[in-house]
Amino acid sequence: MKLFIDSGNLKEIENLMPMGIIDGITTNPSLLAKEGGDYRALLKRICGIVQGPTSAEVVATDVEGMLREGRELAALDDHIVVKVPFTRAGVQACKTLASEGTRVNVTLIFTAAQALLAAKVGATYVSPFVGRLDDIATSGMNLISEIVEIFENYQFDTELLVASTRSPIHIVEAARMGADICTCPATLIEALFKHPLTDIGLERFLKDWEKAQAVKA
Ligand code: E4P
Repeated sequence: MKLFIDSGNLKEIENLMPMGIIDGITTNPSLLAKEGGDYRALLKRICGIVQGPTSAEVVATDVEGMLREGRELAALDDHIVVKVPFTRAGVQACKTLASEGTRVNVTLIFTAAQALLAAKVGATYVSPFVGRLDDIATSGMNLISEIVEIFENYQFDTELLVASTRSPIHIVEAARMGADICTCPATLIEALFKHPLTDIGLERFLKDWEKAQAVKA
């Protein structure tokens, strides 16, 4: 399963890339707005660092506007994936952009039916938001299991990108279900490294080693 960082923050991205576990980036208007400055320059820098799929979202809500913004974003760098919201306009724009060879991530997916429609129009990725479903007392991971089943039934090429992840359990469950990608905030990726028994075990190994060296000396 691929891991993406859900961030527009250069420090977070630069800090995690050398680990060798990151395959791409997702951004959204809220994340880029938080960074401020010229979002085009920022996206180019992110693409340069990551050298992998980097989702950048349109903010237009009509088809023409989405196509114009999508083409502009795609022209920034070969690694840009144009993100469109799941609306009627978004689905139509996805169809056109995909037919032009642009990779499209259809975002704000909350039902399996929405994922199916996005796959039918050639989305490269669909992004169901599991955390936001959990927030309203609906199982986000049940949605992932439904989409996995549908995509397998029809062998869609569309990749299932699990978004709005909040805990390591989301990541492990997504991997067990066979999701293609999880996008995670940097803090969640850091959390994947942690287990107290690993820390305690290492401390004990090092202490025992030191003791043995002191006896020899
Ligand atoms: C994904 O592409 C979105 O940017 C993101 O995962 C949304 O997460 P949130 O619900 O934590 O804002």
